[in-house]
Order: sequence, then structure tokens, then C-alpha cells
Amino acid sequence: MPEKHMAGYQALFHSDPRVYASAPGRINIIGEHTDYNGGYVLPAAIHLRTHVLAARRNDGSVRVRAENFGETASFSLDALSPSGKALWTDYVQGVCWALKEEGFRLGGLNLMIWGDVPLGAGLSSSAALEVSLLMALVKIFDIELSPDKIARLGQKAEHQFPGVKCGLMDQFISVFGRKNRVLFLDCETLAHEHYPLNLENAGLVILVHDTQVRRALAASEYNKRRQEAGAALAVLKAEGAAGYKTATLDMLESVRGKMETAAYKRARHIISEDDRVRLAVEALKKDDFQSLGCYLFQSHESLKDDYEVSSAELDLVYDLGRNFPGCYGARMVGAGFGGSAIVLIKASRQEAFKEKALEAAGQRGYPRPVFRDILIGEGASAVLLG
Ligand code: GLA
Repeated sequence: MPEKHMAGYQALFHSDPRVYASAPGRINIIGEHTDYNGGYVLPAAIHLRTHVLAARRNDGSVRVRAENFGETASFSLDALSPSGKALWTDYVQGVCWALKEEGFRLGGLNLMIWGDVPLGAGLSSSAALEVSLLMALVKIFDIELSPDKIARLGQKAEHQFPGVKCGLMDQFISVFGRKNRVLFLDCETLAHEHYPLNLENAGLVILVHDTQVRRALAASEYNKRRQEAGAALAVLKAEGAAGYKTATLDMLESVRGKMETAAYKRARHIISEDDRVRLAVEALKKDDFQSLGCYLFQSHESLKDDYEVSSAELDLVYDLGRNFPGCYGARMVGAGFGGSAIVLIKASRQEAFKEKALEAAGQRGYPRPVFRDILIGEGASAVLLG
């Protein structure tokens, strides 16, 4: 934790913090928009994190400083309510609300938050914020909560306050991430397993290509996809399928006439993506990165054509990757509608790829992309200070 944040905390609150917590953002290798559909995902925590310094205060109010925005806000624990504008304060209030809903008694707090997970980049800054706050609060109020419950409360906060009806993937990996490991998670049962990602031996890296495009409509479009996927599942269930994970593309074809085209396409993505995640895990176990890369490309195609959550800027990364020697795979990551893509590429070819991508974006008049070399890091942690 940099000294400057400690000093900033002391200067603002005229006291010492008692807890330091932090939680990572994530990339997702494959398994997009499957989590809230009871399917499989394969995310990994990244080295970019959100940090929190915290101490109790005795007046029942919460005072919180967001260093990245240079803003300070206050609210009462007795009057928690969403702003309706998905402000950063909604995440803080949402987390307090979720803990109170569980019956935990909270007291007043001083909080200082900062971090380097880019906002709106598809790297899950929201979950990093929720989970780091939960970790801090749980530590400071001596609350007993299992790690998966922490993930669930982060998700609950996001549903109720910023209002995104997200799945559990982001919060789960933020809690359970492990260095140099990806996490294969069954979002229905929460059964999970870590696998090493031996990219280095293969001379490969995962490059995060941030298109710099941020879409204001992302939350409402996301919630709409969720509804459409739910509508298709209701039809599949009426025909005897237990859920998406056990449904097949043949089954879907047989009921195609009973659903809207949009619902059919969403279901086709989910069913095929679940298959790809399973195949990707098999490929990973064998260090078969050629096959893994193919699944990444296929995932992007399906997200673009069937789930319809890509963007021209993200499609460009896919197109470049398809034709670039040394690139094994590329696809959009996270919710979509802008944000980032991941590129699985030979380390020796990444600089050439960046050059090409900058040139291509410039030619099309797209924002200048930002590239991030991502390390796979640890999950959330919290420690008592002093
Ligand atoms: C966002 C959500 C996740 C997941 C992804 C898409 O990151 O928070 O729950 O649905 O989008 O896979």
C-alpha cells in the first residue's frame, strides 16, 4: 500500500485506519454471458486492484473518499438508498445495505478508496470495488462470512444499487482468484477448480486491448439480454430441458418456432458458449493453446452475431487477430458494448500487433486503444493494521 494513501487518510480523517483491504479486477478467458444463465465461466484475477483503508467512527455515519475521483461523500447507515444514476457512492451504500439485509449491525465508518482497475473497460472494476469494501467491512466489524457469501453479497449490492442484474462471475473471481491460475466455475452449483495457465512456457501472452469506448446504455442492454435469455429458457424448460447447461443445440432447434428470434439467438450463444468453455478447459489441461485460441475466436463470433453485445471497435480486434501471424485467438471480454478485448498472442509478436491495431483504429476514426499487459494475480485480502 503506497505511503501516500496512508498519509492522505490521516490528513483527511485525523486518525489512523484500522483495516487495509484490496480486491482485483478480472479477465475472462471464455464463458461470456453464461454466468447468470447457470453456465460455465473461466475467469482469472488480474494484478489491477481496488484498495480500501477503513476505520470505525462512532456516529453511525459513513464518510468516504474516492481518491480516483477526488471526491468525498457522506451518508447515514439509516438512510441507504440508490441514487438511480449508478454513481460510485451507490456501490458503497449498496455494500452496507447488503450486509444490513443479512442482519449484521454496522457502525459508522471512515473509508478511503483508490485503485487502478480501469472503469468501464470490461475488467470488472465494479466487483473489485464491492469485494474490497466487503472485505474491509467484514474485517472491521468482525463479521463471519464465507468467501462465496461475500461474492453473493457483492452481486446483491450491484443488483439493488447501481441496478445491474449481473451474474456472479466477477465477484466470485475477485474473491477466489489465485496467482497464475484460471478458475473454472459452474455458476449453477458454484463447484470450481483452479488450473494453471502456462502461457510463458509456450511463449504466449494475453494482451488486453482496451478500445476506450464506454457505452452509457450498457446496463440497460445487459438487463435486456438477461430477460431475453430467460424467455428462451422458459420455452426450453417447458419442453423438458433442465437448464441451459444440459440443453443442446438440437433441442433449441426443435423449439425455435416457439420463441422470438432474439431469444433464440441468445439461447444459441449460451448453449454453444457453455460447450466452448468445457472444450477450453480440456485444451488448457493439455497446454493446447492453438485450440484454445480457436474457441476464443468462436466465442467472439457468437457474442457478436447471436448475443449482439459486441461493437465495431471490438470486432476490429477480432478481425485483426484472425489475420495476424502469431495471434492464436481474440475476443471481447466482459459485458461488451465497448470495453476491452483479450488477445492470445506470441510474446514476440505483441508489439507488432499493437502497432497494427493503433494504425487500424486511427484509419477508422476510432478512439486510440490502450494496451495492458496483464498478470494473473491473487484474489481479495484484508488485514488489520497496527
Ligand atoms: C459483466 C457481469 C458478469 C457477466 C459478464 C458477461 O461482467 O458483471 O456477471 O455476466 O458481464 O459475461
